[in-house]
Amino acid sequence: MAESIKYIGASTHDLDLFEGQYSISNGMAYNSYVIDDEKIAIIDTVDKIVTDKWLDNLKKALDGKEPTYLVLEHLEPDHSGNINTLLKMYPSITLVCTAKAKTMLEQFDIKAENVMTVKEGDELSLGNHTLKFILAPMVHWPEVMVTYEESEKALFSADAFGKFGALDVDESWSDEARRYYFNIVGKYGLPVTNLLKKASALDIKTIYPLHGPILTDTVPEVLKLYTTWSSYEPEENGVFIAYASMHGNTAEAAHKTKEILEEKGAKVTISDLSRSDMAQNVADAFRYGTLLCMAPSYDGTVFTPMADFIHRLKTKLYQNRRVALVENASWAPSAVKAMKAEFEGMKNIDLIENTVTIKTTVKENDIKALEALADEILK
Ligand code: FEO
Repeated sequence: MAESIKYIGASTHDLDLFEGQYSISNGMAYNSYVIDDEKIAIIDTVDKIVTDKWLDNLKKALDGKEPTYLVLEHLEPDHSGNINTLLKMYPSITLVCTAKAKTMLEQFDIKAENVMTVKEGDELSLGNHTLKFILAPMVHWPEVMVTYEESEKALFSADAFGKFGALDVDESWSDEARRYYFNIVGKYGLPVTNLLKKASALDIKTIYPLHGPILTDTVPEVLKLYTTWSSYEPEENGVFIAYASMHGNTAEAAHKTKEILEEKGAKVTISDLSRSDMAQNVADAFRYGTLLCMAPSYDGTVFTPMADFIHRLKTKLYQNRRVALVENASWAPSAVKAMKAEFEGMKNIDLIENTVTIKTTVKENDIKALEALADEILK
């Protein structure tokens, strides 16, 4: 991390769900930075849940000096939660934001004396550092911009390149960044691709995101992963078996299918949709090239946990994947028809024509049908 860029963000383990729905068993980090120069700029504030820690870090970083600018890259409350705190301390500080963000300040009850709006490519000199603003609408709100500082080769990337998890937890970046990306930003692949195109023209040594760790050595790797994710291409060849089971029979069929696929050399990940983190299931569906959905028929449609899972995939613009379907029914099979109708409404889904209907328990002929389906999946 550059000497003149000071981390003033904070982590919490006291929040159960991020954005009211995403499990964060390893906590969450809300990042904020001070650029110490002739004129001092603060890059974003933090969620109210970490106000006290942030204020301590801010005071240490400022060391009695007054900030000139507060750069607002993103107004979602996890970043705008302390703008008013700062305005009370420094009423004449200048807020720097996009024109769109300016129109949104009022709804966040923010009334500032000084607001400077910036456009694509505008520059702001702090002395030895010059901030260059790059608009990034819909990554992941319309008012978003990112900030590049050339002398440090630093990209302040707003929500992009973030992850779930507090900074005092050592865990895989890609697993929690993938779960964060597809669930939070996943619908906005095209805007992310547009931002990546602009980023490809920059020499980036360090990425300073608003969540997760500061990225240095892994910059090429994370840019590559983001290119794959934002283009909706699979990250790996493999099969994700997503199943839901009422009485254990569909679960048995799912695990049997996993064995069959693995015997044939496939990489397989399996998940019980009723007893797992749905955000992780969404991330796994995007990770692999093939999705196998296995569920009972229910109320003339498909069993609720599977309906919920597919609905989430649809809202995240799930596309460019092979999908296979298996249903269970003791009477009136309806799950395949319902699942098929949903996937047919998604872009570029290669639905495997052969489907399997299990009648309650898994029998010898079902195993043969699952073997044939596995062969088609691996074709
Ligand atoms: Fe971290 Fe879109 O807010």
